[in-house]
Amino acid sequence: MPVVKDNFDRPVYSMRIQVNTTCNFKCFFCHMEGTGVHSEFMSPEEIEKVVETAHRWGVNKIKLTGGEPTLRRDIVDIIRRIRKHVTGNISMTTNGIMLSRIAMDLKEAGLDRVNISLHSMDRDKFEFITGVDAIDTVIEGIRAAHTAGLSPVKVNFVVLKGLNVDQIPGMMELAARENFVLQLIEFETTRELENSEEFRKYHMPLDDIERGMADRSVRIEFNDLHHRPKYLVPVDGKFAEVEFVKPMRNAEFCSNCTRIRLTSTGMLKPCLMRSDNYRNMISPLRNGESQDKLDSIFISSVKDREPYWKKEDEDEIKNQIFRISKR
Ligand code: 5AD
Repeated sequence: MPVVKDNFDRPVYSMRIQVNTTCNFKCFFCHMEGTGVHSEFMSPEEIEKVVETAHRWGVNKIKLTGGEPTLRRDIVDIIRRIRKHVTGNISMTTNGIMLSRIAMDLKEAGLDRVNISLHSMDRDKFEFITGVDAIDTVIEGIRAAHTAGLSPVKVNFVVLKGLNVDQIPGMMELAARENFVLQLIEFETTRELENSEEFRKYHMPLDDIERGMADRSVRIEFNDLHHRPKYLVPVDGKFAEVEFVKPMRNAEFCSNCTRIRLTSTGMLKPCLMRSDNYRNMISPLRNGESQDKLDSIFISSVKDREPYWKKEDEDEIKNQIFRISKR
């Protein structure tokens, strides 16, 4: 299987597919996968064709996302079709509330694992963040995922200043007890919105938290994707696995990005943070263009990839700090 690299020597192994933009949660910080809301989505057959094409050029790992993917009635069909083409991991990000009903079906169709979003252990804060009082259903969902064998279960926790940072120790206990990998995710946004009131209010760099975790840990591993560090930390006579996702102004994160994205409307999207360099995959596909044509669109989109955060963005922050401390 040939693997295509971009002009920054980064291979592409995985594809993040947004199957819809519909969601029954209303998380105030949601980046909506960088696409906004749409009402028309690709069919299972169309998604299959794009995956088949991407696989011809080295993509062997799929993440399904939304919106909320489990709100698509044909999600099982989508998974079954993708499964025919990739031998690597197929995973899904979900808010978890449908899992107690459909986890088994997802597993049987070929889903390997799930990332369940749980940004608070506190009922009121959970509702403040998501707009829904559903924390118990989400916890049931985590258990249902385990029962169905969708493992390892990962829990996404976006760290928000003044809102849920104090819950990290509790989340680690829950991770050790319920046997999930806790992903501490830095609240992220684009360069343009970095100075917005909301971002400044809730954004919290994770460096200090990570240093504390490193001190307590007995082992560190790195995820190839984004070179994300994962610590194994003793908690209550057990262990919690804690992975850090720190995208903001992180050149290392971007230089280890090996993914491409497909929007719900069938556009290839090289970067979460940009919407100015899509390539239309769906029209040629619907017009019955040749496999050669689809291949060349895919390859062009890979070649469009550029690291969003670069070394000079890191330096810019250091320079700002330097200037403040010199005042
Ligand atoms: N910053 C970081 N993570 C985010 N997510 C959604 N919006 C943001 C953001 N602005 C997370 C969701 C979910 C996953 C799909 O991405 O909480 O876990």
